[in-house]
Amino acid sequence: MSNILEDAKDAVQGLVQMAKQRAVQLAPDSFIPGGRPDPLIREQHGNIGKPLSRLDGPLKVRGAAPFAAEFPLDGMLYASIAFSSVVKGRITRVDTSAAEAVPGVALVMTHLNAPKMANVPLFMTQPKAAGGIDLPIMQDDRVHWSGQPIGLVLAETQESADHARSLLRFEYATEASVTSFAAAKAKGTETGQFMGQPLKMDKGDADKALATSPHTVDRTYTTPRHSHNAIELHACTVAWEGDTLRVHDASQLVSHTAWSLGQVFGIEEEQVHVTSPFVGGGFGGKCLWWHQVLAAAGARLSGRPVRLMLSREGVYRIVGGRTSTEQRVAIAAQADGTFDALLHTGTVVISPHNAMPEPFILPVMSAYSSGSLKFDLEVATVDMLANTFMRAPGEAVGTFALESAVDELAVEMGMDPIELRLKNEPETDPVTGAPPSQRDTEKAYRDGAERFGWSKRGAPGERREGEWQIGMGVATATYPYHRMPGGAARMILSRGGAVIVEIAAHEMGMGTMTAHTQVVADRLGLPLDKVEFRYGDSFQPGVVLAGGSQQTASIGFSVIAAHRELVSELLKLAGNDSPLAGLKAEEVGSVDGGLAKLDEPERHESYVSILSRAQRDELVVEGSAPPPLELQHWSMHSHGAMFCEVAVSVITGEVRVRRFLGSFDCGRILNPKTAMSQFRGGIIMGLGLALMEETQFDERLGRIMNPSLAEYHVPVHMDVPEIEVIWTDIPDPHAPMGARGIGEIGITGVAAAVANAIYNATGKRIRDLPITLDKLM
Ligand code: MOS
Repeated sequence: MSNILEDAKDAVQGLVQMAKQRAVQLAPDSFIPGGRPDPLIREQHGNIGKPLSRLDGPLKVRGAAPFAAEFPLDGMLYASIAFSSVVKGRITRVDTSAAEAVPGVALVMTHLNAPKMANVPLFMTQPKAAGGIDLPIMQDDRVHWSGQPIGLVLAETQESADHARSLLRFEYATEASVTSFAAAKAKGTETGQFMGQPLKMDKGDADKALATSPHTVDRTYTTPRHSHNAIELHACTVAWEGDTLRVHDASQLVSHTAWSLGQVFGIEEEQVHVTSPFVGGGFGGKCLWWHQVLAAAGARLSGRPVRLMLSREGVYRIVGGRTSTEQRVAIAAQADGTFDALLHTGTVVISPHNAMPEPFILPVMSAYSSGSLKFDLEVATVDMLANTFMRAPGEAVGTFALESAVDELAVEMGMDPIELRLKNEPETDPVTGAPPSQRDTEKAYRDGAERFGWSKRGAPGERREGEWQIGMGVATATYPYHRMPGGAARMILSRGGAVIVEIAAHEMGMGTMTAHTQVVADRLGLPLDKVEFRYGDSFQPGVVLAGGSQQTASIGFSVIAAHRELVSELLKLAGNDSPLAGLKAEEVGSVDGGLAKLDEPERHESYVSILSRAQRDELVVEGSAPPPLELQHWSMHSHGAMFCEVAVSVITGEVRVRRFLGSFDCGRILNPKTAMSQFRGGIIMGLGLALMEETQFDERLGRIMNPSLAEYHVPVHMDVPEIEVIWTDIPDPHAPMGARGIGEIGITGVAAAVANAIYNATGKRIRDLPITLDKLM
């Protein structure tokens, strides 16, 4: 009975949601954030679009940018973590005596003496939840995966801590576990969920179209597990200052982390102060894992500050990665290439204690129009480390399968793969029917093809230089525009005419603070040296995740909101003696260090003059970003065309990427220099995905076998050719500044472009990543 009631309640809630969504879709543009284009798209103040070098660059070059493990606190202890060596079971005996006898050891913590702590709230279950694993942390004797932290040593030096940790002894009573993909699938699967949505849909009769269309492909592609390998290892330095927890973290979500740690330790969010001014790469991995919790617990027990930096192996053991996938893509097309059916189905493995399946079906939801569409992502559970976000979760490996299959269909039909793709460019969103906010995929393809010399591509196996077979491939890159709720910003305008903007955002090497300094300068009509962008502090306004390529939009709308407050407050202060007297906020904009009437620019008064006359030293305002309704009103996606030229040795099977070009349609580019680096970095990571990266998981022992950069390969300089990047630079009229995010799209499409180029070079189709030389021999 209660189940029936629950079902009915779910159904009603579902209907309410649907009605709301429908209302947002049908509402006039002007009701929607971004419905009136951001004036900064039209007005040119000269900073946006400039290739400004990173403002934090000199600090980093001088070693003056402190990272999370570089805050030396008085009396600080160093931490080392012991990991379980079995998959599942109970810890039956702990021997800490040898470890405790090591000189300099201050604390050995296991489940026997850890303080009481609540589980870390699991990401996406609550607005500020930041955790990747939903399990008790050292609260009982249970082991859930091979590599789970089961002991923590704190000592006067890192060396003593590591040595003592090596002397810890644990005995276990093991239990049966599921450690292979096949066994997990055999146990049964269920439909995956991402951002609260089931990853399953049927539109039209795709199976029937597949059976009756003149041209079809139907293939299976596989991708392995991937581990996070940011250059900066995960680290934190923590101290209890009375009842307040101070955390220097390497984080892409400081506000979420503060709230979540508050939940863990049963204290208020305001009692946790998380800062993260510099981060050496995040990519989705720098969220809240167990190390921050263990460091805080150890600091509480020892009464001293703690620095905890994971070893490289530690990152592999406790920070989630990208899970392995098995994907089927089937496409049916008419004689002219028009898609009748598009099917993308398959299975991913996740752990029982987290909720992040790799949503590989995301690209097929927006890339093409098709007479019918079917997707279905199934989840099987394996007793292993959690999965988490890794740059373009879903799209990175989903485009490998989808864009390889489109290439296979083009070969089958004797059609140019670019023409086949453009033939199926959708007019409206293939799933929701919403109109695109801006979509110029064709221009990205045409510009890219011309620049790359696509017309020189030969037939498969046709080009050869000595032992090297040469080929070209192309694939679509795609990533949505996202914006999460919670954006907010504070502006502090001083009588000297300078502004400080504060927002709890993140700089992980992307160029965020540089690009947004440019944006604020243009929005307020100030020179760059009058703008200071402060970020990376949980005490600042805003709940801003540096993820989902959405930070730029989130900051953008927050700054727009704060600026609106600033203008109203300044107009109040200006009073009746100002040239602005009597004007409404809507009639006024920021120009030349002050406010002016938009259609009568000579009615202008500087910020300095307004504040001086009002005898104010500073004006402080805050604004909150509107809810992200634009996501439902328009179909908002970026696209790109990825071009690759490879050489494959007929003797060794070695693949060398000789040239790569990414041509992007991501709205307006705010800073070409930092954007270029973002795109290139994504492409380089994509080359690793295509050719090297693979977390080797021993399916008998349930343990990662290659937890080091010696055995887990990522591209080095010699693997990376000249990478050219171009973009359409067509503003998205419905995104702040006209810009969609660019953090993740660079990795998408790359693996398929490489695989398609390898096919063109050799006539061999590899459907299993990474494409190592043994697969080409
Ligand atoms: Mo990205 S995987 O959303 O940090």
